[in-house]
Amino acid sequence: MKNIIITGGAGFIGSHVVREFVTKYPNYKVINLDALTYAGNLENLKDIESLPNYEFVKADITDAAHIFEVFQKYQPDGVIHLAAESHVDRSITDPTAFVMTNVIGTVNLLNAAKEIWKDNYEGKRFHHVSTDEVFGALGDTGLFTEDTKYDPHSPYSASKASSDHFVRAYHDTYGLPMVLTNCSNNYGPNHFPEKLIPLCIHNILNKKPLPIYGDGKYTRDWLFVIDHAKAIDNVFHNGKNGDSYNVGGFNEWQNIDLVKELCKQMDAKLGNTAGTSEQLITFVKDRPGHDLRYAIDATKINEELGYEPSVTFEQGLSITIDWYLNNQEWLNNVTSGDYQGYYEKQYS
Ligand code: NAD
Ligand code: DAU
Repeated sequence: MKNIIITGGAGFIGSHVVREFVTKYPNYKVINLDALTYAGNLENLKDIESLPNYEFVKADITDAAHIFEVFQKYQPDGVIHLAAESHVDRSITDPTAFVMTNVIGTVNLLNAAKEIWKDNYEGKRFHHVSTDEVFGALGDTGLFTEDTKYDPHSPYSASKASSDHFVRAYHDTYGLPMVLTNCSNNYGPNHFPEKLIPLCIHNILNKKPLPIYGDGKYTRDWLFVIDHAKAIDNVFHNGKNGDSYNVGGFNEWQNIDLVKELCKQMDAKLGNTAGTSEQLITFVKDRPGHDLRYAIDATKINEELGYEPSVTFEQGLSITIDWYLNNQEWLNNVTSGDYQGYYEKQYS
């Protein structure tokens, strides 16, 4: 029996990672450690919450004493760290929250793991889940490799870059066993509708404008969330100690083209006349410091660990839209309350 603590397991990606581990490894005990911020939602895990190898612990990773207690109690063999403040726009209005959770919170987890494992690292592993945004912005060509120099621009990416450096520093200084993954933009079920794809799905359903920052030519590399969860499973178990792996789908889209593709699929599924949703596209004020292009070179994870995504973008997007159409109560629940105030402030 292995005990695995997954932080941020009630969030978008974390909930898919928890499900992957709970269902695939019945001999593991999976502890979902999450503070349940606005982005954390136990509804995401309703289908697996009663399984005997799953347990939820409400804890804030900025609370070092509580985190240490939880580690003492559960004596984890592995930690998969996803808890974070994750939205770039929020980092622009409140950078400190990102330093607290993403930097201090990560260091608290590293200290707890180091203390519990007491320098006896046999069979132990800390997997830090990070982002391609730490590499900065690409021009029209080129890809981020594992050797690309860090060059973060937003408070979000600066905080994630810092956390990556701390994880490597604990490996280099104390020998803490770790692996690190830098992934591109995820999409899929349970994505909080502050992010581009679910925000546009929600707005199409409510016939509201689809806000495109700047000229819409910014480019992102999109990966279906369940494929990210499978990559995390693969790297956690098979990745080389001390190494990092880029995770992506070789799937670049300019924002404007992506939103048009989404409109096309939504119109077809809703029985709208072609072009109905596209009319909602509205160009709005740009994001400050907006990175032009991200694109991941995922050759290493493919060649060393045999990883490749399981769905095409068109399939993944179709599954995603169907999920939102079938889970409108989930969407209504997460967009009531605080979301209204956030939306008003961000887009008015
Ligand atoms: P999310 O915002 O959907 O979820 C974050 C989760 O962390 C929530 O459940 C929240 O309650 C929890 N959390 C936040 N602060 C906490 C704290 N102080 N203590 C304990 N729990 C806390 O985020 P996500 O999109 O699922 O991203 C998960 C991880 O993956 C993050 O580390 C993010 O940087 C990284 N990542 C995300 C993407 C993406 O496209 N979303 C891509 C690459 C990497
Ligand atoms: O690249 C990985 C990152 O992807 C993760 O590390 C982050 O946690 C995750 O939030 C995501 O960051 P982005 O900023 O790329 O995602 P977002 O969905 O916010 O924006 C995607 C693109 O769409 C980006 O170029 C900004 C643009 N955008 C976004 C919103 C919310 C718009 O044009 N309009 C919008 O309303």
